[in-house]
Amino acid sequence: MAGMDQSVQVLASLLDTLPPEFVQPEDKQPGATTTFSGAAAATELPLIDMSMWNAGCCMAEAAREWGIFQVVNHGVPSEAVAELQRVGREFFDLPQEEKERYALDPASERTEGYGSTLGREPDDKKVWGDFLFNIVAPPAAVNVEMWPKDPHGYREANEAYCGHMQRLTRTLLESLSVELGLEQGAMAEALGGDDVMFLQKINFYPPCPQPELALGVTPHTDLCALTVLVPNEVQGLQVSKDGHWYDVNYVHGALIVNIGDQIEIFSNGRYKAALHRAMVSKEKTRMSWPVFLEPPLEQVVGPHHQLVTDETPAKYNANTFKHYKYCKFNKLPL
Ligand code: SIN
Ligand code: FE2
Repeated sequence: MAGMDQSVQVLASLLDTLPPEFVQPEDKQPGATTTFSGAAAATELPLIDMSMWNAGCCMAEAAREWGIFQVVNHGVPSEAVAELQRVGREFFDLPQEEKERYALDPASERTEGYGSTLGREPDDKKVWGDFLFNIVAPPAAVNVEMWPKDPHGYREANEAYCGHMQRLTRTLLESLSVELGLEQGAMAEALGGDDVMFLQKINFYPPCPQPELALGVTPHTDLCALTVLVPNEVQGLQVSKDGHWYDVNYVHGALIVNIGDQIEIFSNGRYKAALHRAMVSKEKTRMSWPVFLEPPLEQVVGPHHQLVTDETPAKYNANTFKHYKYCKFNKLPL
């Protein structure tokens, strides 16, 4: 199909050793980098019960220290999550030609579609995963032509889940604002108010012959403001703190909340964007469903004026999100 590299899913079904273009340099290989996991981890990623009176304070502390935390009692019904996962799994089970009807053209400016090479540079190693990307809100930005017609219920499941994400992220942004001493609507407003974009991604990481040498996603911070992610039960997400990698342990029913670059900037560095990566498994298919909350392209994001003082001068420049994105993708200074 035009422009589509071979999918990792197809490769995985044909191979029993890892092709060299997927072998990460040694300093990035999960098998060769220090990891704190399971009982060995002295400190663990915060798990926050959103029904607790002090949930906002706990989230802010986690956002300062880790840039990532998990939430339970988040108000998103388990049926809505299960349905989102079902249609995602069934999409990746479709015949390859069916999936490629939605192929992302790497030469185009479009960000929506099915692919496996997003953000890859010519001399970078490939990552072991495929994805499907769709804009799910606001309505004016949605292009339902790019949403899979199959499996049955794809659209309904994504629309319903998006509604829950809109409610949940409103609560998260309000708490994070208040804990900075700002008006509760300050952060949402700075990110574009009702025009804020919601992007739904599905990551599909098939079983990998040599998972210790490969990565599903290389270390990065998210470009967006905030990410809310549903994992499947196959462990793989890790976060870096003080130079070590920590497992984000799978907790049934929990959602993973990740601070992105735009909130780090808005908060003038009080909250930090989490540096994270995703590992892959030898036997099992790992999947994840992140939703990215992004400012509209022309929105200018900079440190909030109340957070810039003589003691805490601005650490970041204000830029349109479009410019920020361009510089990050092209590794240019801001
Ligand atoms: C990502 O950060 O892009 C993917 C994370 C995951 O699959 O858990
Ligand atoms: Fe990410």
